Amino acid sequence: MKRMILVVGARGMLGRDLMGILNASFSGDEVIGWDIEEIDIRKEDQSVARIEKLRPEIVIHLAAYTDVDGCELDKEKAFAVNAEGTRHVALAASKCRARMVYLSTDYVFDGDKREPYSESDPPRPLNVYGDSKLKGEQYVQELVKDFLVIRTQWLYGPFGKNFVDSILRQAREKKALSIVNDQTGSPTYTVDLAKAISGLIQFGARGIFHVANSDPCTWYTFGQAILKLSGVNQVRVIPISSKELGRPAARPSYSVLNCQKLKKETGLIMRPWSEALEDYLSACCRPLS
Ligand SMILES: NC(=O)c1ccc[n+]([C@@H]2O[C@H](COP(=O)([O-])OP(=O)(O)OC[C@H]3O[C@@H](n4cnc5c(N)ncnc54)[C@H](OP(=O)(O)O)[C@@H]3O)[C@@H](O)[C@H]2O)c1
Repeated sequence: MKRMILVVGARGMLGRDLMGILNASFSGDEVIGWDIEEIDIRKEDQSVARIEKLRPEIVIHLAAYTDVDGCELDKEKAFAVNAEGTRHVALAASKCRARMVYLSTDYVFDGDKREPYSESDPPRPLNVYGDSKLKGEQYVQELVKDFLVIRTQWLYGPFGKNFVDSILRQAREKKALSIVNDQTGSPTYTVDLAKAISGLIQFGARGIFHVANSDPCTWYTFGQAILKLSGVNQVRVIPISSKELGRPAARPSYSVLNCQKLKKETGLIMRPWSEALEDYLSACCRPLS
């Protein structure tokens, strides 16, 4: 029977890729994409009523206030969207007896472990964004019987402002780029993540899963790879510390996600970030030289 799948946050960076992939892999079902124009998740009554009226079988919740430094400066908005907004979506999913998929972040961890974080490691966010997303996770687990929480990290893709495009843009304008070298994670291509989300749903996965491209690096190493693969060799790359960059929100110095559970339970394997980056650059970016 035809199922109704609702994506909330469908016009964000991940949402656009996910809509394309769901439409292809769930072609027998109806995939509906909403964003802030159709539903402001901060408004409890309206959000719950709209979703309840649709009666989806699956709700995939990506909508979030994702500006990490913005969250630090506006805690109220961060919690209104990421925590309370998620509670409203979870309430609606629970009323519809829908399965709920929630996208969360590596920033729920503090980075002190210094080895890849598994799903059972205790979270301890360092910043407001991580704190608000963790509260969202807790609401989903409390309110929805059939839930899937997917933690991911360092996203880039064709449909949003991202680090890769920003490095390439700056390389056109500057002779030297200063990039942070004391944060380690795994850059993740939204197309790969969207395929994994679709796979996890098809598999019927439940609980918490970590999903990111494999191999760790720092933003500095990632920046060097972006320039090298784009044929840019006239720009100097200078490693700097997070302290030197002076952003409002603290970031974990190490937030690599252990994705073994994904592989063990579903057979899905995430490829190395360097391979994914090559695909992104050849599909989406014009060569610089
Ligand atoms: N980007 C990353 O590196 C990263 C890393 C780990 C986890 N995640 C998680 O992955 C998910 C997708 O991330 P993304 O990078 O694709 O985010 P994104 O591009 O910022 O997309 C989020 C979408 O949610 C919408 N939205 C914001 N406030 C809303 C509200 N009150 N009601 C309804 N919609 C609202 C945004 O609309 P506006 O653009 O108009 O605000 C945007 O279209 C998020 O849950 C995020 O927390 C992202």
